[in-house]
Amino acid sequence: MTATGSGDTSFTGSIPEIYDALLVPMIFEEPALLLARTVTSTDAADILETAAGTGVLTRALARSGRHHIVATDLNEPMLTAAAARPGSAQVRWQVADAGQLPFPDRTFDVVTCQFGVMFLPDKVAGYAEALRVLRPGGMFAFNVWDRLENNAVTLVVTQALCATAPDEPLEFFDRKPHGYFDIDRIRSELEAAGFERITGEYLDGTSRTTAETAAIALCQGTPLRGEIERHSTLDLECATMIATDALRSRFGRETFDAPTRWLQLTAYRPDPGTAPDRGDRYRSGELGARWNPITGQEHR
Ligand SMILES: C[S@@+](CC[C@H](N)C(=O)[O-])C[C@H]1O[C@@H](n2cnc3c(N)ncnc32)[C@H](O)[C@@H]1O
Repeated sequence: MTATGSGDTSFTGSIPEIYDALLVPMIFEEPALLLARTVTSTDAADILETAAGTGVLTRALARSGRHHIVATDLNEPMLTAAAARPGSAQVRWQVADAGQLPFPDRTFDVVTCQFGVMFLPDKVAGYAEALRVLRPGGMFAFNVWDRLENNAVTLVVTQALCATAPDEPLEFFDRKPHGYFDIDRIRSELEAAGFERITGEYLDGTSRTTAETAAIALCQGTPLRGEIERHSTLDLECATMIATDALRSRFGRETFDAPTRWLQLTAYRPDPGTAPDRGDRYRSGELGARWNPITGQEHR
């Protein structure tokens, strides 16, 4: 079975290679380690990963050696790049749309997804699919980027391109990866899909990179590339140079650390046999977004 996305979901052509080589070390490794820690701290046997991309989370999950992992993505070229990397020999890779999963009901103990749900055209339907394939009491653990303003490198690149070509739709990052971060909206969409015990927290990290690397990664290793190639009067090289210059003005010419922020959530498929636990306090508003799913600590 093969499938590929189009437009905002088109991670194809030379994108997977650049994404994996430059973007993954820059911004995806740190959130992957934290999400993997949440998943591997459970006693889950069967894990489904959706929107697995080139497998940064998959490899972090596989390191524990305790789980059966099925890793899926809409775009076969991303999975091909993932499967070529060492560290995931026992993983089953499969092309699949997270909004229409090719698995029977109640197959997995955990469904997990790193920075993928924002690409789903119908979030409630996508969450309902995750719920359907989970066993009762199973956990859905995922993350989404926070707003663009809290992710400095991507913000600088987006602002520079939009200022240079104000009439062109170069707002991929604002629209997709950084367009779905409102915890109240996400919670209500998870509840609409049938999840309970929803918890989440905004987490802070850093992207260590250089201006040139970040510009190539963001302009050429993401679907922004297609947006530039199809809809812009700027060519790819010119857009990358504009991004590099803007990043150099903001962060200098040497390696720099810039802040990143994302939201990590967990939600559970109801299990009629289990009493409610601390997650329900989030729903009542008592806990807000302050329970840390990684440490298990509450904080103010
Ligand atoms: C930002 S990347 C994240 C990839 C990976 N999880 C990581 O952390 O590097 C988003 C991924 O979502 C995938 N994707 C987009 N729409 C999808 C869908 N409907 N079903 C499954 N995967 C999808 C893309 O192919 C891409 O690999």
